[in-house]
Amino acid sequence: MRLRTRAGLGAVTTGLATVLLASTASAAPAPGAPGAGDPYYPYAGNGGYDVAHYDIRLTYQPATDQLAGTTTILATTTQELTSFDLDFGLQVSSIRVNNAPAAFRVTRPGELEVTPVRPLAKHQPITVVVTYADTPSKVVIDGYTAWKKTPDGALAVDEPQNAQWWYPSDDHPTDKATYDVSVEVPDDVAALSTGTLVRKTKQRAGWTRWNWRSTQPQNTYATTLEVGKFEVNQSATPDGKPFTTAYDPSAGESLAAAKASVERTPEIVGFLASQFGPYPFEAEGGVVSTGLTFALEAQTRPVYSTKFFVSGANTSVVAHENAHQWFGDSVSLGRWSDIWLNEGFASYAEYLWSEHQGEGTAAELAQYAYDSHPADAPFWQVLPGDPGVAAQFDDAVYDRGAMAVQALRTAVGDEAFFAILRGWVAQHRGGDARISDFVALAEQVSGKPLRQLFQTWLFTAGKPATGPNGTVTL
Ligand code: ARG
Ligand code: ZN
Repeated sequence: MRLRTRAGLGAVTTGLATVLLASTASAAPAPGAPGAGDPYYPYAGNGGYDVAHYDIRLTYQPATDQLAGTTTILATTTQELTSFDLDFGLQVSSIRVNNAPAAFRVTRPGELEVTPVRPLAKHQPITVVVTYADTPSKVVIDGYTAWKKTPDGALAVDEPQNAQWWYPSDDHPTDKATYDVSVEVPDDVAALSTGTLVRKTKQRAGWTRWNWRSTQPQNTYATTLEVGKFEVNQSATPDGKPFTTAYDPSAGESLAAAKASVERTPEIVGFLASQFGPYPFEAEGGVVSTGLTFALEAQTRPVYSTKFFVSGANTSVVAHENAHQWFGDSVSLGRWSDIWLNEGFASYAEYLWSEHQGEGTAAELAQYAYDSHPADAPFWQVLPGDPGVAAQFDDAVYDRGAMAVQALRTAVGDEAFFAILRGWVAQHRGGDARISDFVALAEQVSGKPLRQLFQTWLFTAGKPATGPNGTVTL
């Protein structure tokens, strides 16, 4: 589902290949573009259709890493189509489009071209059923495998690409959808995904099927799967939402610290809602696993590496991932180069939480981060507003990104600052937006010219000058 017009037509050169990113409006039916038009990832997403819902129904055997099943996609065409692409890396056995078998071929790793028997008309609902089976840990796309095998299960948790290793999709934040994720696993492991656990079912001895539902528009990468011997706890938040947490028992000594952090999620989400406006989703929670080295803002239920809790409780990371529920999950990126809209604000939320806890104000934390990087450090050479693929998750996107947010707050004052944040999440809720949209809103709400401030903090290499005579004050 798209709540906003896509980026315009254009072509991007990546290495040797020039990729046509969107087809022009023409009378003749044409193939859908193999990408959504994102300069960082030309093959991410696809052209010609818009997904409303994914129904993912799988069986997973941890002992062999065998994943098999069917994904049914409900979409609407946005042009007359002779063929269209799906982003997917696993071995497909059949595809049906509107109930008729369709031809398909792999055009490059992770890119599947589907040709229905007849061209598809414009603005028509389509149903695409993809049947597949594979060993995801063996699937390499662009030199990378996002699927993480663990001793007793696996994790489909990654960013920017994660879906290709477990379900076919239009893999770009500009096409969010609702989800039903149903995964059958051996009785001795749990299968966690996003949203609400609708029910657990059994139809054969030794296996249990876990049925999860996400009812709000959700990014492909924010849809995750975690299989393993988790300790699963289900309760409710004070305001009555399902609260589900899951802990990897192999966290060992860190397990208690993980619980002392993640169990506080409803309190932290309540604080963030007091800053940003109402929490956008139907459930809360968290999953802690030894099977990854980072944390990810899975919608409704972030996933955390146990490494965040090795030296004790860490509510900072809980504040960060839950701030992404507003900044990233509800308001999504128009392009991957806009990553500051996710990481700058989630990092700034850590400062706000610190201030709320009496552990240092946001201004103090921003100043400390600023002072801790000497002017000649490579840190200042990364542009948070356009870091490039290699530096997309560089510290500068997070830390200089949070300084940029503090610089805005200093420039416009608290009243305008929080009005901008709340206006932003209200205006773009369930959709996607770009940095230029944020700058325009900030200027509009504050009534101040801010282009130079954002230019300095997000788009100019080098350490910005601060202080009474500097151009920018933190
Ligand atoms: N959005 C995640 C976070 O802030 C970062 C994910 C980084 N991705 C990765 N593959 N390391 O917290
Ligand atoms: Zn983040």
